Amino acid sequence: MCGIVGYLGNKNAFPILLNGLKRLEYRGYDSTGIALIENGKIDVHKKEGKVRELEQITENQSFKSTIGIGHTRWATHGEPNDVNAHPHVSNSGNLAIIHNGIIENYGSLKKDLIQRGYTFESDTDTEVFVNFIEDIKKSENLSLEDALRIALTKVIGAYAIAIISMDTPNKLVAARKGSPLVLGLGKDEFYLASDATPIIEHTNEVIYLKDEEIVVMENGEYHIKDSRDIPQTPYIQTLELELEAIEKGGHDHFMHKEIFEQPISIADCMRGRLNAEKGELTLGGIRNYAKALQNAERIVIIACGTSWHAGLVAEYIFEDLCRIPVEVEYASEFRYRNPVINEGDIVIAISQSGETADTLAAIELAKSKGAIVLGVVNTVGSSISRVSHEGAYLHAGPEIGVASTKAFTAQLTVLFMIALKAAKNKGTIAENRFQQLLRELSLIPSKVEKALQSNDKIEEISDMFKNASNFLYLGRGYNFPVALEGALKLKEISYIHAEGYPAAEMKHGPIALIDENMPVVVIATRDSSYDKIVSNIQEVKARKGVVIAVVTEGDSLIPGMADFTIEVPSTHESLMPLVSVIPLQLLSYHIAVMRGANVDQPRNLAKSVTVE
Ligand code: AGP
Ligand code: GLU
Repeated sequence: MCGIVGYLGNKNAFPILLNGLKRLEYRGYDSTGIALIENGKIDVHKKEGKVRELEQITENQSFKSTIGIGHTRWATHGEPNDVNAHPHVSNSGNLAIIHNGIIENYGSLKKDLIQRGYTFESDTDTEVFVNFIEDIKKSENLSLEDALRIALTKVIGAYAIAIISMDTPNKLVAARKGSPLVLGLGKDEFYLASDATPIIEHTNEVIYLKDEEIVVMENGEYHIKDSRDIPQTPYIQTLELELEAIEKGGHDHFMHKEIFEQPISIADCMRGRLNAEKGELTLGGIRNYAKALQNAERIVIIACGTSWHAGLVAEYIFEDLCRIPVEVEYASEFRYRNPVINEGDIVIAISQSGETADTLAAIELAKSKGAIVLGVVNTVGSSISRVSHEGAYLHAGPEIGVASTKAFTAQLTVLFMIALKAAKNKGTIAENRFQQLLRELSLIPSKVEKALQSNDKIEEISDMFKNASNFLYLGRGYNFPVALEGALKLKEISYIHAEGYPAAEMKHGPIALIDENMPVVVIATRDSSYDKIVSNIQEVKARKGVVIAVVTEGDSLIPGMADFTIEVPSTHESLMPLVSVIPLQLLSYHIAVMRGANVDQPRNLAKSVTVE
């Protein structure tokens, strides 16, 4: 996730802020910036790229300001470039803001502000935010913190922000809702950051701000209030954590952190798009090609690795909901196969990094044959997002672990929304089914949360199989791609050979592999092929195979057959992959850790395969 730093005290702010940004680099970002109150004005230095580039453009300047804010951006609105980098300054030049998160209703706010004479340089929601605060401050003649509080009652979204004003050059104000923010207490000085990593070297006395709290720092004092302007009693903690542990949010590995982030990252995918109460689904990113999508003769999905598995799930979803034929292609094969692509065919390119060379090449080939390319990408402004005609970002935040976890479930969420919207527009699903699926999708974050509660049981199971030489993963229907994904997860981080298979294919060969040394993971959740998968479990057991079954909670049949069962909450079978993959992520993680493997950076692998 991007990062925020702030400083108010008696030291030179710039080096503190710059080093603070360096501490936050691990979170993933695309641009950086710092704002100071220097020489009687707000002095902003910002740039696309790495912190070292910000350092280079400021290395010959000397600063003496003792107040400032800094930001590492992970773009959500407006591609990564110098103008969209934070901090953003209000029209008057009086306010500067940095922001983590998304202002969902920035469009309507921007329209009002333009009518009131405001102008905008960037494409970001954040620049709207700072001018909205300015407009309230000026029109109602309020203090910075009161203007901010009023503004926060009118914006919809997630934020962690810090803001400074020329009117009060010794005051630093910050607030949070949905994005983390930590206040460090020094001696007559204050540190702000998205986590404690930039703070820990200065002080271990910290306050983790709670949602909707606003903190005002000035003249060596601070006070915290909530959104109703009611003073809050600060809870000061003394940090004992080491730097590395803080980076991982207390998790042992980024992969573990990202597995457990999924209830939040899936909710973030839906933020500003799905409104279950109103029964509305808005996908602005593909508005210009919505008609082409719903009227497509066929859809070709191109991707690699885990993203290709997400494409296989999407095949089932699009064909089931939209009744459009779908082909799913390995991008690396597609690009060399001289494929048949007709003018107006829809190609959906799925990529977490947005930089995978094979997928990029496949897109170019598809475009050269007249296809319309929609990108489903996590990294804003990445190459694939730029060469696609349109698309939808995941908004899952940076994924640091090489093994993809939260990006996979984010891809499934976005692809499901695209298919659901197209099916509704096309009329291939009735309104009541649309509403039912929308409601069920909105419940997925809580169901994933529930599935994560099997972590301890899965750790115990992992201990029994950590020395296995091979694994088989079986699934049917929507769970077949999940079997492939579970096998890939285990392979790439534990180095145990694993194979995913359609369960019905067992009798066409793989069943010869079954013996008492072959753990077989069977995804056997209750769906339209449940009876068949039960038979597959019996086939494996008849040959002494060891079965680890992922079942729907409350299943009373399979626990009597399988050697181990892991329960997941029930959901519609088209959404089950979002839930049934969770135990498989945890199983691969724990086995890899027990084998002493480098979970976050497995041997031979890169997070983004930018070469052929
Ligand atoms: C998945 O865990 C791997 N890291 C890998 O298969 C990855 O999914 C593949 O390289 C595609 O990457 P992309 O989504 O960034 O295009
Ligand atoms: N939504 C803001 C932007 O796109 C902030 C993104 C972030 O969290 O870094 O600039």
